[in-house]
Amino acid sequence: MQDPHGIRDAFTEHFGVRPRLIVRAPGRVNLIGEHTDYNEGFVFPIAIDRETFVAARSRPDHTIRTYTTQFGQEDSFDIGHIERSSDKPWANYVRGIVKGILARDLPITGADILIRSDVPLGSGLSSSASLEVAVGYAVQLLNNINLLGEELALLAQGAENSFVGVQCGIMDQFISTFGRADHALLIDCRDLSYRPLPIPPDVRVVVCNSGVHHNLGNSEYNQRRAACSEAVRLLRARLPRISTLRDVSSADLMANADLLPPTILMRARHVVTENQRTLDAAAALERADLVAFGKLMNASHTSMRDDYQISVLEIDLLTELARAVPGCYGARLTGGGFGGSTVNLVTISAIDRFVAEVAAGYKAETGRETDILVCRPSEGVSRVTAA
Ligand code: GLA
Repeated sequence: MQDPHGIRDAFTEHFGVRPRLIVRAPGRVNLIGEHTDYNEGFVFPIAIDRETFVAARSRPDHTIRTYTTQFGQEDSFDIGHIERSSDKPWANYVRGIVKGILARDLPITGADILIRSDVPLGSGLSSSASLEVAVGYAVQLLNNINLLGEELALLAQGAENSFVGVQCGIMDQFISTFGRADHALLIDCRDLSYRPLPIPPDVRVVVCNSGVHHNLGNSEYNQRRAACSEAVRLLRARLPRISTLRDVSSADLMANADLLPPTILMRARHVVTENQRTLDAAAALERADLVAFGKLMNASHTSMRDDYQISVLEIDLLTELARAVPGCYGARLTGGGFGGSTVNLVTISAIDRFVAEVAAGYKAETGRETDILVCRPSEGVSRVTAA
């Protein structure tokens, strides 16, 4: 965890007064269940020990001033007139959250806000969701608003959907809000119920960051989402009761494959099979069958690569290097895709060898470094004290 005193001091130095409160919200890594959340399906993420800290204090006026230590930039806006910032993309997460709170008719005053994060940007570890959840939580506490839990996650997702323009699902903001130490959460994205399942003590969740980030990612993401809606629209000709791909089994899909153009069929097949893999993976973890869990991770990667077509060569390479290390149960792309990171399940005694061999192999093939994080499943958003 970052040192809260350092954040308090950074706030005091920048704004000339001490903050009234400090909160933190974690990034996340998804073990399995990719691109299923916006299809009302199942996901299985953990919150990680990389997080965004927000220090804040109310102001007597209607101005929100935000400073981020990551870019050394400040943004300022009037809460009566909130527009998208074109030159500071990071500021839109804050603006979107404030706009979302006001849209719920909840009155707030101005604030000074300082942001500091060690969630790597563009790495598929949800730096943006952790920022949205932390800012949402801090602004609520400052204004004595009680929009917590599920409402906070939905507020954060809404900011990203309407203000940032990514039609993301609920997974990232939900796990950043509800994460549980040492557990993964099996989340049903239809009714937002969830079940924490412990990660066995003899394995670690390891993330390898490819260092590749495609700007096309957001528009490709929205296109995948649109393809899923189109699949549902076409399948309804014979399956009138379905409302999302969550309602479609593999057997239903195959029996009605003739209704779908080839690309739409591939997209739907990924989602339908991934939902089942996610449920199977949770069951495997419950019976501590890590071999079965790892096989499902590998199958998930193949489905993302071939049917959903969201992987890139560097990510495929990282998964191959990982699987070649004895003690690695499974490896797959995690998050939205088009670069970012892989998630790997590795037995503790193999971690050193895993890190050394994957890093060396990646460097030899691509000339790039990979940042490798051994993650600790962490708690969701919380207030921290800095005496
Ligand atoms: C991004 C989105 C999530 C989810 C994943 C893919 O992280 O923000 O809602 O759709 O991609 O599983």
